Amino acid sequence: MRYARKILNRIGIEFSFRLRWAKTAFFPVKITIEPNNDCNFKCPQCQLPYSNKKPVHMSLHSLKEVIGQFPNLSHIVLQGLGEPLLNNDLVGMLRFGEGLGIHMEFTTNGSLLDKKTAVELAKLRNTTILFSLDGASSETFEKMRPGSNFGKIVDNVAYLSALRSAGVAPGLEARVLVTRHNAFEIPEIVVLAKRLGLDSVHLQVGLSDWGRGKAFKCVDSIKVDQEAHSVKVALEEGRKVARSCGIGIHVYYNGYANRKRCNWPWSSTFIASNGDVVPCCVIADATVVKLGNLFETSFEDIWNSQAYQALRRKIAYGDVPAYCKRCYR
Ligand SMILES: C[S@@+](CC[C@H](N)C(=O)[O-])C[C@H]1O[C@@H](n2cnc3c(N)ncnc32)[C@H](O)[C@@H]1O
Ligand code: SF4
Repeated sequence: MRYARKILNRIGIEFSFRLRWAKTAFFPVKITIEPNNDCNFKCPQCQLPYSNKKPVHMSLHSLKEVIGQFPNLSHIVLQGLGEPLLNNDLVGMLRFGEGLGIHMEFTTNGSLLDKKTAVELAKLRNTTILFSLDGASSETFEKMRPGSNFGKIVDNVAYLSALRSAGVAPGLEARVLVTRHNAFEIPEIVVLAKRLGLDSVHLQVGLSDWGRGKAFKCVDSIKVDQEAHSVKVALEEGRKVARSCGIGIHVYYNGYANRKRCNWPWSSTFIASNGDVVPCCVIADATVVKLGNLFETSFEDIWNSQAYQALRRKIAYGDVPAYCKRCYR
């Protein structure tokens, strides 16, 4: 019965998206919940080092309150801006989600993965952990992540990977933000991911300006042109190496267009650690756009509020809000 309801909900989401409904009775199946908004790094391409937000750690209790408002979930990404391993409840949150039959996922910088936490993470069965592996050498990696210790992070990943060496769970993957700093190193990153026993590599070619447009200058100097010959060659080389060493590879570009619209406002949402609701994880910041707060208003009311309906109309009819523009061609 629950399964049938979930299938109907998925079909409903697809219909409401295609038919451009501003109001929808269908709830998200995949959401992003930010467990905390603080970090031990200051990566220049990330918006976090430039913000002056008060650090907020969501508790397991609050996470349960959030999840309780979404009847049809099958996937939760437990991460936003910030380093999820700083939240002491993280493992408990992952276990809680798994217990509800929900696939859990989070991305980490890997620097705080101690042995005790690795042992707990290795017991998870329906979770995917992505490691930000933005280089295959200290020099490249530390350009993207100043002040980090590449060797230590590699050791941390290797330790967790060795713990699960007999099984396939949890999923362990690499996530790479492709920039001028590391594009030339893609094949080596793929080899490193394979050596670390990871399942696949996700290459993100388009950078986010976090909905701030030109006001967020930090990405323009390092972004690559996804149409450039040298970038295409580097990606193709990465694919070749992945094929030859037997590891999955996925490449993502910024590429929405009016004929290929973003479906997030119909299918998904982002909940910040203080409960603020933001349209998606590419913006991930309620100071750019806030659609409500889950601890003040029910998600049901927020999901069909005037603000959400206005956003859906704009996306449906090609009047894309300024904060979404970077995702479009
Ligand atoms: C914001 S971080 C949070 C998780 C964790 N602290 C980490 O770095 O892996 C999540 C992902 O966003 C990526 N990221 C950082 N700045 C970005 C940008 N300007 N555009 C797109 N992705 C970005 C990071 O490389 C990381 O893979
Ligand atoms: S990208 Fe991740 S590690 Fe870097 S500052 Fe942002 S949240 Fe921290």
